[in-house]
Amino acid sequence: MPIDVDEPTLQRLLAAARSVRVHAHVPYSKFAVGAALLDEQGRIHAGCNVENAAYPQGLCAEAGALAQLVAAGGRRIEAAVIVGVADRPITPCGGCRQKLREFAGDAVPIWVADLNQVQARFTLGELLPASFGPSHLDPRR
Ligand code: THU
Repeated sequence: MPIDVDEPTLQRLLAAARSVRVHAHVPYSKFAVGAALLDEQGRIHAGCNVENAAYPQGLCAEAGALAQLVAAGGRRIEAAVIVGVADRPITPCGGCRQKLREFAGDAVPIWVADLNQVQARFTLGELLPASFGPSHLDPRR
């Protein structure tokens, strides 16, 4: 069964992702993304994409949010929201799916939204099936 969060928490995640998206550093793609993660303590951590003149050094919004979560002492991701504006829902890139996987199980919900509405809901297992994770290295995890 997918884990789910209550409506007020989803709204808080959406607000956090939309707020941080405003600060995205996107001079190259002009494609601003905001991400918000709910940790196991009920706290929300947000990040935006940070591009770089040396293009491959750019960071996705999800990576920024994840760094915030870990730096604040968070250990698990309970839910994620990604916000961007495009003609179809912005799903996390492959690399970010794997980054999230380190701290999230298959059932964790990932909502994708624009500035007005939630467009889609996935689970991490849907986005990254048959994934490689910490338990492959340590069966106790
Ligand atoms: N990007 C994200 O930050 N998250 C996603 O889920 C998809 C893509 C960023 C990377 C780059 O700065 C810009 O969007 C265009 O790819």
